[in-house]
Amino acid sequence: MKVVYTEKSQVLAARTAKKLGCPLSEVKYTKFPDGEQSIRIMDEDDQMIIIASTVDAESALQAILLLDACEGKETTLVLPYMGYARQDKKFNDGEPVSARAMARALSTGADRIFTINIHDTSILEHFRCPAKNLTIAPEIGAYINTMSLENPLILSPDEGAWEFAKGVAAVGKWDCDHLDKTRLSGSEVTMAPKHLEAKGRDCIIVDDIIATGGSMAKAAGMLLEQGAASVRAAGVHGVFASGGYIKLMQAGLLDIASSDTIERASSRITASVVIAEAVRK
Ligand code: R5P
Repeated sequence: MKVVYTEKSQVLAARTAKKLGCPLSEVKYTKFPDGEQSIRIMDEDDQMIIIASTVDAESALQAILLLDACEGKETTLVLPYMGYARQDKKFNDGEPVSARAMARALSTGADRIFTINIHDTSILEHFRCPAKNLTIAPEIGAYINTMSLENPLILSPDEGAWEFAKGVAAVGKWDCDHLDKTRLSGSEVTMAPKHLEAKGRDCIIVDDIIATGGSMAKAAGMLLEQGAASVRAAGVHGVFASGGYIKLMQAGLLDIASSDTIERASSRITASVVIAEAVRK
């Protein structure tokens, strides 16, 4: 078995290979004179694992090219972060179901696919081979555990992410709640934990994705106003679009962590253990 990777998933690929105890294969990435991508896997095996977060169009294309290069092998594709997953419906006439288009394109040549905390598990049905979604909620919990906080309060920004937050909180048997919005007027909205009080608590907002950081920044500001002792954030996929990281810092968050599904300086949580376990099974 050998592990290969797209250029923007090298760190996670290296960590996964180490956990699996199997070699990484060198992949040469160059460009043809016309600017098109050229790839070559330098060391092949009968079983290939491709680690490919499709964080941008170039990475998605690299994943497609790697799948083709692995033709004839037993190939597992890992999509730690699947781009275009958020357009999972035709919201307006004339629009694509982008998640379906990507799933179809990325199925060709794959024998099985793993995703990590995908936007919506209904997307898995669009893959044309067996596909399974994995969660790294326990890894986020383990990261929070390293902070040795006394009695932290784990919060999801909305009810939809509450199950995920409960998975994080289970690690330390911590209190867990979801934030709830109340409209005060046409322009004023307030947010507070639905069942518990934030006052005097070390709050950690957890979510599957930090996109623009808008939801978390708003929540953090509200929690601090309610007297929270501190507010931190931990998300699986750290996209940080439109200056999202800075927005979170300015909102007063004490710590902002994400995982290596998208490789960033904030990637202090790894998905490699969960991926290696799934591949081994
Ligand atoms: C919603 O479905 C997701 O779980 C996130 O809460 C949301 O996408 C975060 O977006 P943003 O960071 O732009 O507020």
